[in-house]
Amino acid sequence: MESLKIGLLGFGTVGKGTYDVLKRNQEEIKRRAGRGIEVTRIAVRDVAKARAGLGDDAARVPVDADSAALVDDPNVDIVVETIGGTGIARELVLRAIRNGKHVVTANKALLAVHGSEIFEAASTRGVMVAFEAAVAGGVPIIKALREGLTANRIQWIAGIINGTTNFILSSMRERGVDFATALADAQRLGYAEADPTFDIEGVDAAHKVTIMSAIAFGVPVQFDRAHVEGISALNSIDIRYAEELGYRIKLLGIARRAASGIELRVHPTLIPSKRLIANVEGAMNAVVVQGDAVGSTLYYGKGAGAEPTASAVVADLVDVTRLHTADPHNRVPHLAFQPESLSDTPI
Ligand code: NAP
Ligand code: HSE
Repeated sequence: MESLKIGLLGFGTVGKGTYDVLKRNQEEIKRRAGRGIEVTRIAVRDVAKARAGLGDDAARVPVDADSAALVDDPNVDIVVETIGGTGIARELVLRAIRNGKHVVTANKALLAVHGSEIFEAASTRGVMVAFEAAVAGGVPIIKALREGLTANRIQWIAGIINGTTNFILSSMRERGVDFATALADAQRLGYAEADPTFDIEGVDAAHKVTIMSAIAFGVPVQFDRAHVEGISALNSIDIRYAEELGYRIKLLGIARRAASGIELRVHPTLIPSKRLIANVEGAMNAVVVQGDAVGSTLYYGKGAGAEPTASAVVADLVDVTRLHTADPHNRVPHLAFQPESLSDTPI
């Protein structure tokens, strides 16, 4: 069977990571997806930079700066969006959906702010929008919430869901590095957002907790209802005092059922050092989900970086390929977020 054709928007940390994983593991991926998955077109801002990153493939895979032409290309089956932000990415994703293409995105900002519009458009057009990479990098938390825990009434979710801030806090505590140096290291390693303010002020974690809560509690995607506080006001003395008192400081994203509705918050939290989650270090992420039937479950792994994130993007590509191949004419948006009728649940 012919390979499914991927149009890749962006060839930065995540875009290139996705390309590399798809290429390196192409045989396994083909076996699991039931057919090959192949990047046939790439759009970026700076064409020369992307060509250099493609190495030997530069002559084979067309790269240009015309992202609109990529989403309009009738030969592209799935658009993978790794540009980021809520501007051009929103326009391109909506355009791809209108063109009847499935979309895989790693863009949590886009989904947390414009998720309702995007999922509605996908549902109307009968295409899939998959977004495992948008939350906790390579940790399959979206699949866990949507599938593994689907029998449960979720009571709360709490987690370290921003690799950059966890890396900064760990570097300050373990290596005595100052805040600015630790942030620069996180940027160099490809963990931070294009605007790292989103990381250090808790906005990125709030995007992610908003997306998780929509799936777990069936409420609309409402980022603007989250309480958001980051780590920029913390210094080495805070971290040392916490340590002396037997605690670690972690930036937690929390979503829970409260008497008034679903509460969403992100803030630095003192956690007793003996607790598992207090020992999650570096860019690792960990999410605890409490369900009424299963009790407490923990999901742990690399939350940022090229290949951990690519692992989630490619997993979505395999899912979309399987579903598309099973029935291309009756495209059920299995992977799209579908709000439950819980409109009476206040946030
Ligand atoms: P990045 O390294 O800055 O890459 C962004 C890419 O988008 C670059 O290749 C850039 O082109 C391209 N681009 C920018 N504007 C464009 C446009 N108008 N048309 C076409 N291409 C354009 O960013 P990233 O770290 O890969 O992040 C991408 C997305 O993944 C973001 O939504 C981010 O939140 C999400 N994410 C990132 C991570 C991570 O660990 N980095 C993890 C999970 C999710 P040039 O190369 O020419 O500048
Ligand atoms: N900037 C994000 C982080 C990337 O540090 O967690 C992964 O979503």
